[in-house]
Amino acid sequence: MNKSKFVFALFFIIPLFLKAESKQDLNLLKPPMDEFIDSLMEKMSLEEKLGQLAQYPGGGSLGFNTVIDDEKKKLIKKGKVGSFLHVLGADFLGELQRIAVEESRLGIPLIFGLDVIHGLKTIFPVPLAAACSFEPEALEKTTRIAAVEAAASGIHWTFAPMVDIALDPRWGRIVEGAGEDPYLGAVMAKAQVEGYQGDDLSFENTILACPKHYVAYGAAQGGRDYNSVEVSLRTLNEVYLPPFLAAVKAGAGSLMNGFNDINGEPMANNKELLTDVLRDKWGFEGFVVSDWNSIAELLNHGVVKDRVDAGKKALTAGIDMDMTSGIFGEEILKSVKKGDISEKLVDKAVRRILEAKYKLGLFDDPFKYCKVEVEKAEVLKDEHIEAAKEAACKSIVLLKNESGVLPLKKDLGTVAVIGSLADDSRAPLGSWKAFGEEKDVVTVLEGIKNAVSKDTKVIYSKGCDIKGNDKSGFKEAVSVATEADMVVLVLGESADMSGEARSRSEIDLPGVQKELARKIAGTGTEVVVVLMNGRPLSIPWLTENVPAILEAWFLGIGSGNAIADVLFGDYNPGGKLAVTIPRSVGQIPYFYYHKNTGRPSSVEDLFTSRYFDLPITPLYPFGHGLSYTEFKYSKLKIKNKKVKTNDSLEISFSIKNTGKIAGSEVIQLYIKDVVASIAPPVKKLVGFKRIYLENGEEVKINMKMPINLLGFYNKEMKKVLEPGEVKIMIGSSSEDIRLDDSFTIEGKVSEIDEAEIYYSEISVNSD
Ligand code: NOJ
Repeated sequence: MNKSKFVFALFFIIPLFLKAESKQDLNLLKPPMDEFIDSLMEKMSLEEKLGQLAQYPGGGSLGFNTVIDDEKKKLIKKGKVGSFLHVLGADFLGELQRIAVEESRLGIPLIFGLDVIHGLKTIFPVPLAAACSFEPEALEKTTRIAAVEAAASGIHWTFAPMVDIALDPRWGRIVEGAGEDPYLGAVMAKAQVEGYQGDDLSFENTILACPKHYVAYGAAQGGRDYNSVEVSLRTLNEVYLPPFLAAVKAGAGSLMNGFNDINGEPMANNKELLTDVLRDKWGFEGFVVSDWNSIAELLNHGVVKDRVDAGKKALTAGIDMDMTSGIFGEEILKSVKKGDISEKLVDKAVRRILEAKYKLGLFDDPFKYCKVEVEKAEVLKDEHIEAAKEAACKSIVLLKNESGVLPLKKDLGTVAVIGSLADDSRAPLGSWKAFGEEKDVVTVLEGIKNAVSKDTKVIYSKGCDIKGNDKSGFKEAVSVATEADMVVLVLGESADMSGEARSRSEIDLPGVQKELARKIAGTGTEVVVVLMNGRPLSIPWLTENVPAILEAWFLGIGSGNAIADVLFGDYNPGGKLAVTIPRSVGQIPYFYYHKNTGRPSSVEDLFTSRYFDLPITPLYPFGHGLSYTEFKYSKLKIKNKKVKTNDSLEISFSIKNTGKIAGSEVIQLYIKDVVASIAPPVKKLVGFKRIYLENGEEVKINMKMPINLLGFYNKEMKKVLEPGEVKIMIGSSSEDIRLDDSFTIEGKVSEIDEAEIYYSEISVNSD
C-alpha cells in the first residue's frame, strides 16, 4: 500500500469500518466530500494548510516545463505546495504526484494546471477565430478534445476559457477571447466550460475550467496590457460580467482574477467583485486563483504597504490560491500568528481547493491522469487532427469576394503564393500554443499544393518579412506574380504580435507588407488575400484594391488545408466576425452596440457624432461574413406580440439557400429597446444559430427568446425590464438586417434576477 492510501485508510476508512453496523454502512467507504475534508483538515497544521494555497511554476511565465528542480521537490515533501503550473507529461507529473502522496506527511495530491487555451498538442483555431464560427457546439467539441489530451498528459486544470470582452484591437489579448459581444461571449464561455469539464469532473478525461481574467481586464485604457480600467458599474454589469456569469452558471470549478484595477481598485484586492458578486450574488462554489504574481503586484498598484499586507488583503478579498508570488505561505503565516487574519479565513480557502481535488477524484486515485499509455493513445489522434481542420474551416471569415473571384479553380496554370506567412508553420499555432509543434502544422503553401490539380504549378516567393523594412524580396515576388495566372497573397501578423503583453499602437499591416501588396496588385495578375492575424487589422487599402479577402486568424494545425479548402471551394465559408474591424486605429473603441447619442452620425451633417476625416462606418461590421451561396429570409411571424417578464417571445421565419451550392448561414437576432429610462444601445445580439442548408433548401426557423434577456441596469442600478415597444431585427450581420418587426412588453417595471443568465432557443424545422 502506498503512503497516500495508507493515510487515507488510517484516517477515513478504518474508523468507518469500526463504526459500521451493516453492509450498507460499509458502502460509505467513500465518505461524502464535506466529511472527508473535515477530517482531513483536522489533521492539517497551519503550514500544511497554507501549502495548499501555494502554486509554483514549473517553467517561466510563458515557458512550460517537463522537469523540476530539487528545491521544488523539497517543498512538495514538506507539504508546502498545493499546485504546479506550466508543467506537462504523464510520466513526469506522475513522479511529482508520487512525491506528494508518498513522501509528504498527509499525502495530499497536487493539482497540475496549464494554459490549455486552444488545444494541447492538437492545436485548434485561436479563441477569437473559434468565436467567428458562431457555432458553440463546434467549440465545445474542440475544447473537449483539448481536455482529453491535457488530462491524458497529467493536467487536471486549465486556465481557460478567457472570457474577457475586448473592444480595443490594440490589446493583444483580444486574440484569446470571443470578441466584443457579451451575448456571444456568454454562449462561448458556457460551451468551453462544458467542453473542458464534461459531464463529470471525476472522469479521467475531464479537467477543471478557470474563466479569466475576472473582470474587465480587456477594458485596459489605451489597449495597453495590464493597464488600469475605468468603467461604469452599468457597463461592468451589462458588458464585462455576463460571460463570467455564464461560465459560473455552467459550473466552472475555478476562476482567475485580472491584473487590472477597476476604478482604482486592483482585482486581486476587490472584495466587492470577488466575494459579494461572485460568491454571494452568483453562488460561485469553486476556488479563485490569482493571476501570475498579481498578489505581490498589489505593492506596485500602491494599495498595500508590504507583502504581509498584500497577502492579507488578497485572502480577505476572496483569492484562494496564490499563483507564484509565494505570499500565501510565509506572509499569511505571520498574519495568522499575529492574529491579523483568522485561521478560519485560511480554512475557507483550503477547503475550496481540497474540494476541487476531491471532485477531480484525486483522493480516490491521485495517478489517474498520469498514465503514459493513455497519453500516447490520446494525444494527436487522427480524429483530433481531423477535428482541427474542421474547426479551422468553420472559423474562416470571407470578408470580401467581388464578382465571385473565389472559389478558385484547381487547374490554375500557375499560382503564385506570396508572403512569408504562407510558409510559416509557427504563426498558425497562435499565442498560446501549449505543447503544439510546428511539425504538425500544415502551412498555407502546403495546403495549396495539396489542393491544386497536378498540372498546376505553385511558385512561392516570400516578398518580405512580417516585420522590418527589408524590401529586397519585392523584385522576385513581383516577377513571380507577373508570370502567374493567380496570386494568393498571405499577409498579417506573426504569432508573437498578439497575446499577453503584445499590445500594438497601430492596427494596420506591420512592416512593409502593405507596400508589397501594392506592388503585387500593380502587376495586374488577379490577387486574393489571406489574412493571418491575432487582432482585427485595419486594411482599407486592401479592401478597396483587391477583389477577395479571407480572414483566417490563426487557425491551428489544420490551417493550410482549411484555407485551401475555402480558396478552392471544397468548403463554403460561413464564419462571421466576432469583432468589428475598424477602418483605422483612430476609430477605437468601435463596437456595434454603441448608443444612438443625441446626434447620431450623419454624412450630411457635420454636427453629428462622427469624424470629419473618416467615414463613421466600420470597415467590416460585427457579424459580417460572406458565403459562396446566397440566403433569402422571409415570412417573419411573431406569435405573441405582447409579452411580460419571464415570458418568451416566439418568432418564426423562413430561410432559403437560393444559390447553387450548399452552405451555412449564421442567423442573427438583434433587438432594440425603442424608449427606455437609460439610453439603450442601437442594437443588441440576443440569439444566433449557424445552420447548414443544401442549395435550394428552405427551412423554417423557430426562435424562443426569454424576455428577461432584455434586462438592463436602471438609474438605481437595479436590473429591470421596462414596459414599451421593442424592435427585433433578424439578419446576416449587425448591418445586414433582412427582417424586422416589433413587439410590446406590457405590465410594470419589473426587477430581474441578476444571478440568472438567459439564452434564446433556436430550432430548425424542415417542414
Ligand atoms: C498570466 C496570464 O495573464 C494568464 O492568462 C495565465 O493563465 C497565467 N499567466 C498562467 O500562465
